[in-house]
Amino acid sequence: MQNKQSIHGAWANRWIFILAATGSAVGLGNIWKFPYIAGENGGGAFVLVYLFCILLVGVPIMMAEVLVGRRGRQSPINSMRETAYEAGHHGRWAGVGWLGALAGFFIFSFYSVVAGWVLYYIAGMGSGLFIDIGSEQAGQIFNGLLADPQTLLIWHTLFVVLVMMVIAGGVNKGLERATRILMPLLFVLLFVLLIYSMNSGYFGAGWDFLFSFDTSALSGEAVLEALGHAFFTLSLGMGSIMAYGSYMGKKDSIGGTVLTIAALDTVVALIAGLAIFPIVFANQLDPAEGAGLMFVTLPVAFSQMAGGQVFGFLFFLMVGFAAWTSAISLMEPGAAWLVETLGLSRVRASILLGVIVWALGVLALGSFNLTSDLLVFGMTVFEFLDFLTANVMLPLGGFLVALFVGWYLTREMTEDELSLRSSFVYQLWRFVIRFVSPAAVAVIFALKIYEKLAA
Ligand code: PFF
Repeated sequence: MQNKQSIHGAWANRWIFILAATGSAVGLGNIWKFPYIAGENGGGAFVLVYLFCILLVGVPIMMAEVLVGRRGRQSPINSMRETAYEAGHHGRWAGVGWLGALAGFFIFSFYSVVAGWVLYYIAGMGSGLFIDIGSEQAGQIFNGLLADPQTLLIWHTLFVVLVMMVIAGGVNKGLERATRILMPLLFVLLFVLLIYSMNSGYFGAGWDFLFSFDTSALSGEAVLEALGHAFFTLSLGMGSIMAYGSYMGKKDSIGGTVLTIAALDTVVALIAGLAIFPIVFANQLDPAEGAGLMFVTLPVAFSQMAGGQVFGFLFFLMVGFAAWTSAISLMEPGAAWLVETLGLSRVRASILLGVIVWALGVLALGSFNLTSDLLVFGMTVFEFLDFLTANVMLPLGGFLVALFVGWYLTREMTEDELSLRSSFVYQLWRFVIRFVSPAAVAVIFALKIYEKLAA
């Protein structure tokens, strides 16, 4: 059974898998979210905790997800059930897959709204909307966009259509093709922008902000945020990576592949920070600006720099590509399940998913205008969906996957999939997945709850 193929197809080779998973991992989380939450949480100290979380929690759990996907060779829901059966356990482990699918819908709903802003900015940069503007005008343009449900709706709809077109194409003609075209472009654009920012004159200030580790600035809030972000940025805890793993070649090494993906994702986040903060400092803007950081500060900077229009256009194009490849992975677990279990065609599955996430997205985009008064636990629907998924559902999903793989799958199964028979690396991974990763998630949750109660 371990040698079976997925009915959905398989990646052409190991590098395609690496690029596809990196495409999933690298997204708005790296370029929009990471810089702004690092900015809000004081920079360096937050970055340090985030790096620990990637290494101690993210990498081992990503290995676990790929392992389950490749072993089960189905959508995350069915792979969880299948591998649970193989290990002699109850099929209710499929619930972890369901939790992930739900998280995928929730994430998509706010992700697509932000991706819609990005599309608007690509068009705006291309048409000269941002030529010669100051921070006040940039703020006005951004707030004007947020206050305009119709425009938001148009771009959100376009983004949903773009994603669903790829999903409809299936693993080889959709996902793999998008990966082959978009990922090289993304890397080239990122590199060009890094060079540009290195020449902005404030590279050192950006560097210090990200890497001067002042741990006294750390709150429990920031630690939970760092943990949640580690899951979010690596696309863990909801099945994306598990689904991608189910199309992976049987002979490819999981450990090395996962390390490469995590390293690429981290490097992109750091480069995005190194590209953004120097520009922020060069223009005396506020690093703790929040969710608008990329959308308000950067256009100002681009409008005043030599070649800024072109680079601004390229920057938002890059962000758009990154968001696209990530959003595809948010929908793949659901699409695979619909095809496997309900027998839908890829096209039908993607239309059905598209309608659902489009409607959820409409709810999220109302948070900036029509339904801005609607608060859930003091947060707008948009903020709540972000908080609930990144800080609660993904860590919980990851925690359960770690327990499942560490304590419920047989040692033979995991040894076989990781092909690390009794080696030191295997022992280390097994120790971490059984004890360290679940404990880290549990402690951070407890810390957060304690902080809430004490407040
Ligand atoms: N990893 C993506 C990002 O950093 O933007 C977002 C994401 C994609 C989260 C897929 C979760 C996921 F399953």
